[in-house]
Amino acid sequence: MTVPNMAEARCCFKLLYAIVLVLLLHMNSPCIGCSERDRQALLALKQGLVGDDGDRLLSWGREAQNKNCCQWEGVYCSSNQTGHVVKLDLGDQSLQGKISPELIHLQHLEYLNLSCNNFGWGKIPDFIGSLSNLIYLDLSYANFGGQIPNQLGNLTHLQYLDLSSLSSSDMSPLPVNSIHAKNLNWLPNLSGLKHLDLTYTNLSDVVGWLEAVNMLPKLTKLILVDCLLPPPVISSVSLMNSSNSLVHVDLSNNNLNSSIFQWLSGTHTNLVYLDLSWNNFRGSSIPASFGNMSSLEYLILRGSKLEGGFPNSFAKLCRLRSLDLYGNRLSGQLTNFVEILSECVQNTLEHLDISYNKDIVGSLPDLTNFLSLKHLDFSGNNLSGRIPESIGQMSKLETIWFGGNSLEGVISETHFSKLSKLSSLDLSSNSLLLNFSFDWIPPFQLRSIYLGSCKMWPASFPKWLQTQKNYTGLDISDAGISDTIPSWFWDLSQKLEIMDISHNQLRGTVGNIRLEFAPSLNLSWNQLEGPIPSILSKASILDLSHNNFSGAASFLCATKDSNLTFLDLSNNHVSGELPDCWIHFKKLVFLDLSNNDLFGKIPTTMGYLFNIQTLRLCNNTFVGELPSQLKNCRKLTLLDLGKNNLSGSIPEWLGASLPNLAILMLRDNEFYRSIPPQLCHLTRIQILDLSMNNISGTIHKCLNNLIALAQNGNSSLTIQHEYMTQLGEEIFVWEYEEEASLIWKGVRYKYKSTLGLVKSIDLSNNKLTGEIPSEITDLVGLISLNLSRNQLTGQIPPRIGMLQELDSLDLSRNQINGRIPNSLSRIDRIGYLDLSENNLSGKIPIGTQLQSFGPSSYGGNPLLCGLPLLRTCDEDEEGPRQIVLVNQDDQDGLITQGFYISLGLGFAIGFWGVFGTLLFNRSCRYTYFNFWTCFTDWLYVKAEIIRQRVPNTR
Ligand SMILES: *[C@@H]1O[C@H](CO)[C@@H](O)[C@H](O)[C@H]1NC(C)=O
Ligand SMILES: *[C@@H]1O[C@H](CO)[C@@H](O)[C@H](O)[C@H]1NC(C)=O
Ligand SMILES: *[C@@H]1O[C@H](CO)[C@@H](O)[C@H](O)[C@H]1NC(C)=O
Ligand SMILES: *[C@@H]1O[C@H](CO)[C@@H](O)[C@H](O)[C@H]1NC(C)=O
Ligand SMILES: *[C@@H]1O[C@H](CO)[C@@H](O)[C@H](O)[C@H]1NC(C)=O
Repeated sequence: MTVPNMAEARCCFKLLYAIVLVLLLHMNSPCIGCSERDRQALLALKQGLVGDDGDRLLSWGREAQNKNCCQWEGVYCSSNQTGHVVKLDLGDQSLQGKISPELIHLQHLEYLNLSCNNFGWGKIPDFIGSLSNLIYLDLSYANFGGQIPNQLGNLTHLQYLDLSSLSSSDMSPLPVNSIHAKNLNWLPNLSGLKHLDLTYTNLSDVVGWLEAVNMLPKLTKLILVDCLLPPPVISSVSLMNSSNSLVHVDLSNNNLNSSIFQWLSGTHTNLVYLDLSWNNFRGSSIPASFGNMSSLEYLILRGSKLEGGFPNSFAKLCRLRSLDLYGNRLSGQLTNFVEILSECVQNTLEHLDISYNKDIVGSLPDLTNFLSLKHLDFSGNNLSGRIPESIGQMSKLETIWFGGNSLEGVISETHFSKLSKLSSLDLSSNSLLLNFSFDWIPPFQLRSIYLGSCKMWPASFPKWLQTQKNYTGLDISDAGISDTIPSWFWDLSQKLEIMDISHNQLRGTVGNIRLEFAPSLNLSWNQLEGPIPSILSKASILDLSHNNFSGAASFLCATKDSNLTFLDLSNNHVSGELPDCWIHFKKLVFLDLSNNDLFGKIPTTMGYLFNIQTLRLCNNTFVGELPSQLKNCRKLTLLDLGKNNLSGSIPEWLGASLPNLAILMLRDNEFYRSIPPQLCHLTRIQILDLSMNNISGTIHKCLNNLIALAQNGNSSLTIQHEYMTQLGEEIFVWEYEEEASLIWKGVRYKYKSTLGLVKSIDLSNNKLTGEIPSEITDLVGLISLNLSRNQLTGQIPPRIGMLQELDSLDLSRNQINGRIPNSLSRIDRIGYLDLSENNLSGKIPIGTQLQSFGPSSYGGNPLLCGLPLLRTCDEDEEGPRQIVLVNQDDQDGLITQGFYISLGLGFAIGFWGVFGTLLFNRSCRYTYFNFWTCFTDWLYVKAEIIRQRVPNTR
């Protein structure tokens, strides 16, 4: 309708309206349909609401032809002549705003659904309690907040109540503004209630929630997921008065303890569905009394810290279809579990998940008696022995997940002979050998194929993969394949989400592939060659490291607004100048281009990598100064530019603008001038390597500001990063561990699993002058200090013995004079010492350590005497006894950092530490995801990645 006509139209309506009103008053015409009072109430309701994308409820109008509100969208009237509105169904209409109090005029309303709209975290209006005829009330996912009004207790006819909620934007477990309640005193009034869902409402203060629920004699479905429910206080009274009407109970994600078992198993013998996952049953085993719930079809007890074995009473659960005990601490022989189950549920059980219990042991029994089994998950246990060939007869099987056990032996075609419905297979991380005939045509079409670390025999590329047209996930990493990748392989399913073919000896080039989404691709540690196809820049994670790829890096610029978060091209032969298109890589978190043949300047657009945390460009031939734009990369944790030809002074912004920097490696370049004092602002720095440059000037006294180095202990073993990628509606959370290689006691070591503990300063091979500042002895966390090959003068700081964690000290090839401080002999841990080629004098202090080094550690100091040198000391060289300044208190801390360091040598496990995807695809059109709850229990996260391998497992 155009604006000029509005006034005119409204005028006409007024007239019409008056006529209708007269008619209404004088006769009760059956054709009017809708009562005027209800119509006015609905119009008032509409007035308070707007659509998020313009006008909604278009059919709700004042126009004459729209008069009958019973015909409005979402409005339903009683069939009799008065035409009262009895049902209002406004779910998922993208409505926003406030609910008008006029709503209470709909006195005949029995059904009200306002779910999946946005009421801006406002309180649930009290006046809803006046709609006393309500039978059905759904306010779920509508962004209500505040306290649940007690007036709900007036809705005594209510049978269905859903107040569940979840914020789509807030990542905390419960949004601060979520619906909450101090008590549930209003609940027992709803004596006709059959369905109650308060998911994500905060009930942490409601001590008597169980009593309140118990007083609902007709309740069949109870859903209180993630409500912070406290453990109930069970009294004999509460057990006696308990109704036994419940059929479906979901109390997952709460703080319940084993007291809940008493309540459930005592009375609720009609339960069909029970989910108690993600509670805390630490110290309890699965109660035998669960065996009494003979109606149970679904029993879900994920991640709840249950211990012990499997109760014999489960043999009585004859209707069980789904048993999910993932991620507990159960132990025992798998064969015992299976024997108990096979008593009764052989024909019904479809879903069996006992994964990630660690101590479930023994070999896999024959399961062919379980005629209905579709989903079998035994992963992450300690199962051994062979997989029986009989599994190939279980023709209903859709998923087999046996990954992460100690299974061994040969897998052949027989293992799959009748598995035509198999869609997801995980045999990874076992000691299995896959031996299929060359032209095997499997009976299945898999969606996910996880065979990492299974060895393929023969070692040629598995030809049967050519028959699989539809997979989203493929892992054949570390499979011992030594072959050229056939060209058909690159004709991938367009729905590919994850591919890992790393750690083989695959040759050839990357063929023509099409990528629709942004998958994660790991092709690392092979012998692939040729230029990198530009299509690969569409990936979200791309690891091509340790191959023979060549050609220019310009392939990257083919994609605008790239989804890449992780890019590793290290250890290839990528050559030429780096393209200057990094403005399109704002999602990038990790970039490793080290060990290639890149040259030229570092592009200034790298300053657009706002999310970058790890940047490695080492061992190329980059020249010029560091572009100052890099100071925008404020999230940088690791910056490794070593072994290039970079020059200029070390920029001040490195210290001033990169507050998170933990590892800074500029070694083996041509930097000159002095170290800027701003580097002392790097309070998180752990590894500072400026060696092999032309740096002059003195070492700053402000060194003691380097807090991370001035603390011992407290650090975590690794430096970890998490980041997210999105594939369609799914959010994947990935993790990688930072890695760094250091020259340690003259040898290069890689650190990863213990990198968090490595604390080192290396300023060797420069032109530093002046004294070693005594402040350096405040850096008590230091494990390695290398100041060799400079022009340092003065004395070794007398308090050097404060550096109790020191494993390696190199001050050689300077002009340091004076005596070796006695305190040095008190550093028990020191394993490498070089003081040679200085002007040190006097007697080498006697101590447990200093004499254990060879004379070469002290050589080139003509005035030095005493063991291990051959020159004995004169009377006056003995010198006065120095005061020992080292605190002797904690001498027996044997297993501290230094100990762990030695565990970290050469540690190399692929970064492919996927730990999860999390998806909460609720009824509304949003994808909700519950990020932080998952992080608190990484097992859960891990669970969800496995879940996603098979869509719709339930
Ligand atoms: C018809 O209307 C009357 C009064 O408005 C009400 O009491 C009755 O329940 C209605 N009947 C039906 C079938 O809805
Ligand atoms: C509804 O409940 C409130 C509080 O529980 C009460 O004060 C009120 O009288 C009740 N009746 C109506 C019709 O609102
Ligand atoms: C591929 O998977 C989809 C499910 O995502 C299924 O509908 C389709 O039938 C499958 N195609 C083949 C050839 O198996
Ligand atoms: C990045 O991902 C989004 C969502 O998955 C997709 O729509 C977009 O096309 C992708 N961009 C590129 C350059 O691939
Ligand atoms: C540097 O890179 C080259 C290849 O470009 C490689 O051969 C060499 O081993 C690398 N050096 C180090 C120290 O990694």
